[in-house]
Amino acid sequence: MMGIPQPAFYIFKCQQSAPAGMPKPSCVSQNNPESLQLFGYLTQVLMQKGIIGTVQPIQTSCLGRCQQGPVILVEPSHTMYVNLTKVKIDRIIEEHIIGGKVVTEYVIDESMWGEPIEPSRVAR
Ligand code: FES
Repeated sequence: MMGIPQPAFYIFKCQQSAPAGMPKPSCVSQNNPESLQLFGYLTQVLMQKGIIGTVQPIQTSCLGRCQQGPVILVEPSHTMYVNLTKVKIDRIIEEHIIGGKVVTEYVIDESMWGEPIEPSRVAR
């Protein structure tokens, strides 16, 4: 029996916006007008391509890599894309989400994204 299909991908878009005057950078910022539009743009492109649903865009708070924002995290695969723009969103959807090939030049540097620590190793 066929059930309702799972999404193929979740795209987590950091929507954290630092309050005015806060020195910490954030993924959504008045200083970067394009950053205010990126979640809407992502959703719109997924709709235009007819893949929303099997690709689920999710708004999140801080994903912990604020210096490199705007960021998105693509799951499955733990792929974090940084310094996001509309142009980058277009390529990520075309090449990674539809084409199955990670856009390596937009991926966070390895020095900022080491191997995860298994919870079983650190659990008390
Ligand atoms: S504000 Fe987006 S990762 Fe921290």
